[in-house]
Amino acid sequence: MTDDLSTGSPAPAPALAVRRLDRYTKDELAQILGDGDDPFGVADTGLTWLPKEEHFGLAQNGGRNGGRLVAHAGLRRLPLEVRGVGLEVVGVGGVVVAPGLRGQGLARQVVGAALEHARTMGPQWALLFCRPPLVALYEKLGWRAVDGEVHVEQPQERLVLMPLRTMWTPLHGDESWPEGAVRLRSLPM
Ligand SMILES: CC(C)(COP(=O)(O)OP(=O)(O)OC[C@H]1O[C@@H](n2cnc3c(N)ncnc32)[C@H](O)[C@@H]1OP(=O)(O)O)[C@@H](O)C(=O)NCCC(=O)NCCS
Repeated sequence: MTDDLSTGSPAPAPALAVRRLDRYTKDELAQILGDGDDPFGVADTGLTWLPKEEHFGLAQNGGRNGGRLVAHAGLRRLPLEVRGVGLEVVGVGGVVVAPGLRGQGLARQVVGAALEHARTMGPQWALLFCRPPLVALYEKLGWRAVDGEVHVEQPQERLVLMPLRTMWTPLHGDESWPEGAVRLRSLPM
């Protein structure tokens, strides 16, 4: 943190603004994370993922182009089946916060902004995949773990058991996630 030389007290952190992003490429991810391999820690799963279709970010105010991007959450509608019954969900993915700004509620803020939009998209639930250590964090944000097996599609028409945890949250009311085996009818997001 930089010091405010006139008072000797720490300068306030720059204010953050929620933005709907019209593009989210490697460049935007690098603004948040810097360069680095496997920012989400899921490379060892070997899974192929879908890009997200809608992007929400937190940016520091000021500067050219509106300031540096420091957090992101993406959305994408996905078809799936639960016990053979077809439904659609809003998939949430690509949740990431700049390393120096973690633990300050930025994931809560950016996921909250993305979910606000997800509520306008129609599906009853949002779904995400995460590493087991992040289950407690998402529970704090109101998500619940899906019990039972979740299969997802992979290239060459392969169907694989999702090795990560699957979590859901209601987008309208408080209807519970339906019980039963889940089969995503697409690559995961
Ligand atoms: C995971 C990640 C996005 C979290 O971002 P963050 O800004 O530090 O998260 P927040 O500060 O918003 O935390 C959200 C809530 O979870 C809580 N929390 C954080 N870590 C937790 C943990 N290990 N266990 C339980 N709760 C936890 C926080 O206290 C906060 O709750 P509160 O608002 O009631 O205090 C960030 O660590 C990151 O970018 N990691 C690398 C990329 C990644 O793994 N993304 C996840 C893809 S699913």
